[in-house]
Amino acid sequence: MPETLIYEGKAKKVFATDDAAVLLHRYKDDATAYNAQKRGSWKDKGKTNATMSAAMFAYLEANGVPSHFIEQVDETTIKTKKLTMLPVEVVVRNVAAGSLSRLLGFEEGRRLKAPIIELCYKNDSLGDPLLNWHHFRELGVSDEDLEFCEELGLKVNGVLAPFFDERGVLLVDFKIEVGRDAEGHLMLADEISPDTCRFWDKETGERLDKDRFRRDLGGVEEAYAEMLRRVTADASSIRSRASGKDEEGGA
Ligand code: TMP
Repeated sequence: MPETLIYEGKAKKVFATDDAAVLLHRYKDDATAYNAQKRGSWKDKGKTNATMSAAMFAYLEANGVPSHFIEQVDETTIKTKKLTMLPVEVVVRNVAAGSLSRLLGFEEGRRLKAPIIELCYKNDSLGDPLLNWHHFRELGVSDEDLEFCEELGLKVNGVLAPFFDERGVLLVDFKIEVGRDAEGHLMLADEISPDTCRFWDKETGERLDKDRFRRDLGGVEEAYAEMLRRVTADASSIRSRASGKDEEGGA
């Protein structure tokens, strides 16, 4: 399939294909943090982000959450539908950490009474600020689309939190994005990976995500590999649930 580079970001490249409705997202081993002030790279980061995203999008689809995901084409590349993205980052939180701890003065690790949804403006030069609905209306984002973002965030959390819990991982918070396909349907997009989620080991509290890089905790390569292992250890059962078949007890 011919590939034309149409975008290169901090952690991925996006290619157009010979089908105008289809893109390839190739994940890199590079990372940035704090609005690109901190840079790094580690082995198999791209593989983890592509493979975990593919597994999670397939699992979400099987659980009633459609996304842009079509298939994984190689270790670091996924094929997706081409969407027109909303300028919104949807953050969902179950436990206080990061910018929520700073915003509310909560200790990291404090369980929230209910999931908190934040809608941020996807704009690097402004540092992706947290906005309210009035701001978004001014930017031309409709209430209907914002409602979709909030409902989608809660639905994704309702599917993913138990999935990770079964694998010994607390889903502290995560960020997703939303786009509209050619037929006008809004759906989940972007990625689901240790770059975009906070994962804490349930027993030890060990950070298994990008905070190891952001905060110079060391062991970032091992943490990503561990998350990939936990998600793919039972990949056949994920696939069977995704296709509605029960392969348990098979060879
Ligand atoms: P925060 O606590 O820094 O606001 O991050 C909340 C969650 O969103 C965390 O899981 C990391 C993710 N996130 C991104 O994926 N991209 C970003 O640019 C930011 C700021 C956060």
